[in-house]
Amino acid sequence: MKGKTTRLKEIIISNILIILALIFIFFFWILESLIDTYIFKLYNDFLSALFTPDVNEVWLRFVIGLSFVVFSISGQKIINKQKVTAKKLKESEELYFTTLKSIGDAVITTDLNSNVSFLNEVAELLTGWTLRESFGKPVSKIFKIVNEQTHKKLENPVARVLKEGIIVGLANHSILITKDEKEIPIDDSGAPIKDDKGNIKGVVLIFRDITERKRSEQVYREAQKIRQERLIMLGQLAGGVGHELRNPLGAIKNAAYFLKMAIENPELEIKETLEVLEKEVHNSEIIINSLLGFARPKPPLFRKIEINGIIDYMLSNIEIPNNIRVVKEFDENLPTILGDPDQIIPVFRNIIINAIQAMVKGGNLVIKTTTLSIGGVSISITDSGVGIDKENMNKLFEPLFTTKAKGIGLGLAISKILVENHGGTIKAQSEVGKGCTFTIELPISKNEKD
Ligand SMILES: Nc1ncnc2c1ncn2[C@@H]1O[C@H](COP(=O)(O)OP(=O)(O)OP(=O)(O)O)[C@@H](O)[C@H]1O
Ligand SMILES: [Mg+2]
Repeated sequence: MKGKTTRLKEIIISNILIILALIFIFFFWILESLIDTYIFKLYNDFLSALFTPDVNEVWLRFVIGLSFVVFSISGQKIINKQKVTAKKLKESEELYFTTLKSIGDAVITTDLNSNVSFLNEVAELLTGWTLRESFGKPVSKIFKIVNEQTHKKLENPVARVLKEGIIVGLANHSILITKDEKEIPIDDSGAPIKDDKGNIKGVVLIFRDITERKRSEQVYREAQKIRQERLIMLGQLAGGVGHELRNPLGAIKNAAYFLKMAIENPELEIKETLEVLEKEVHNSEIIINSLLGFARPKPPLFRKIEINGIIDYMLSNIEIPNNIRVVKEFDENLPTILGDPDQIIPVFRNIIINAIQAMVKGGNLVIKTTTLSIGGVSISITDSGVGIDKENMNKLFEPLFTTKAKGIGLGLAISKILVENHGGTIKAQSEVGKGCTFTIELPISKNEKD
C-alpha cells in the first residue's frame, strides 16, 4: 500500500507540469465560458457557453488547450532530462567519493588556500586526524613531514603543487609526524585538482606507509652485509686451508710416487692401494685448487679469443655419455673477444659437467652462441635434466652450495667471479623436471664495457 502511494506521488511529481496544464485547460474552459456569457454576451446562460455547440469556439478552446499541453509536455521532458543528468552526475560524484574513501592509499585534498577539504579513512589512520577535526584547517597542520635523517621540516608538497601546477613526488626519506607525534615513513605524490577548463581548484595528496618496505629493505641490507662478511671470511679460510694443505699433500704425492718406484712387482693389493692413494691425492689437488681459485682469483690475462673454438676444444676434452646428444648452434660470425682462456674454459667446463650430471638418464645438451647487439657475445648452455627448484635457484652461485654427494659447491661461485672479472654476467633459468639454461654474456673487452 505504502509502495503504491509512493509510486503515485512519484507520478504526480514527475508529471506535475502536464497535470497543471490539464487543470489550466479546465479552468480556461470555464473562464472562457464565463467571459463569452457575461462580457461578450454570446450565450444566454453559463451552461450553454460551457457546452457550446459552436464548432469554431470548440476548435479555438481546443487549440489553445492543446498548445498548453504540448508546451507542458516539452517543458516536462526538458526538466526530466535535466533531472536524469543531475542524477547521473550525483551518482558519478558519489562513485568518485566512494573510490577516494575506499582507496588503499591515504588521500588528502585541499582547496586553493591549502585548507583541508577531504581526508579518507587511511589518511585519518595515518595522520591521527579525523575529517571532522581537520576540515578547513591548513594542510601543513595535518600533514607534517620532516626529513628522516635530519628531522628538518620539509616543504609541504601542497604549496609546491599550487606554485608550480604540476604533479610532484614527495622528497625521499620523508617522515610523517602524526597528531600524537609518532613518526611514519611515507612516500608518494601530490597533484593539482583541475576543473574542465584546466583551472586549479585544489590539491590532492596521495601517500602510503612504507614502514614494512623500509623494514624489509633493512633486513635485506643486513643479510647482504652478513653474506659479504661470511664470503670474505670463507675466502680467507679457504685460502689459508688450501695453502696449508698444499705442502703435506705434495709430500704424500711424492711418497706415493717413491713407493711405486721402490716396490718392484708389488702384490695386487699393494698396487691397488697405491693407485687409490694417487687418485685421491689428485682429487684433493682439484679441491685445493678450487678453494684457492675462489679465495684468491687471479686477474685475467687478456688476449684475443674465439669462443666457438674454445667450446669445441673443451667439448673434445670432456667425456660425454652416449645417451647425451650435443647440439651446437654457433653464430658463425661471432666476434673475437678479449679474455683469459684459462679462466673462461673452467667456467664452460663446470656448467657443461653440471649439465651432464643433471641428465643421468640422458638428454640434449644445446650450446648456442650469439652476437649481442650492444657488442659482446652470449653463450647459452641448455640441458634437459632434472632442473633446479625455486628455493635452490637463489643459492646457485653461493660458495659451498651443492646437492651432490661428491660436489664441493664451488663451481658456479668461482664461475661467477671469473665471468664478472671479465666484465660479463652469468644467469640461470630453470624449470623443475624440464632442465635449465645458463647464459653467459661477455663484452668484446672489459674496458669497452667500462
Ligand atoms: N644444470 C644443472 N641442473 C641441475 N642442477 C644444477 C645444474 N647446475 C648446477 N646445479 C645445482 O647447483 C649446485 C651448485 O653447482 P656448482 O657447480 O656450484 O657445484 P657442484 O657441481 O655441486 O660442485 P663443484 O664444486 O664440484 O662444481 C649443484 O650441486 C646442483 O644442485
Ligand atoms: Mg659443478
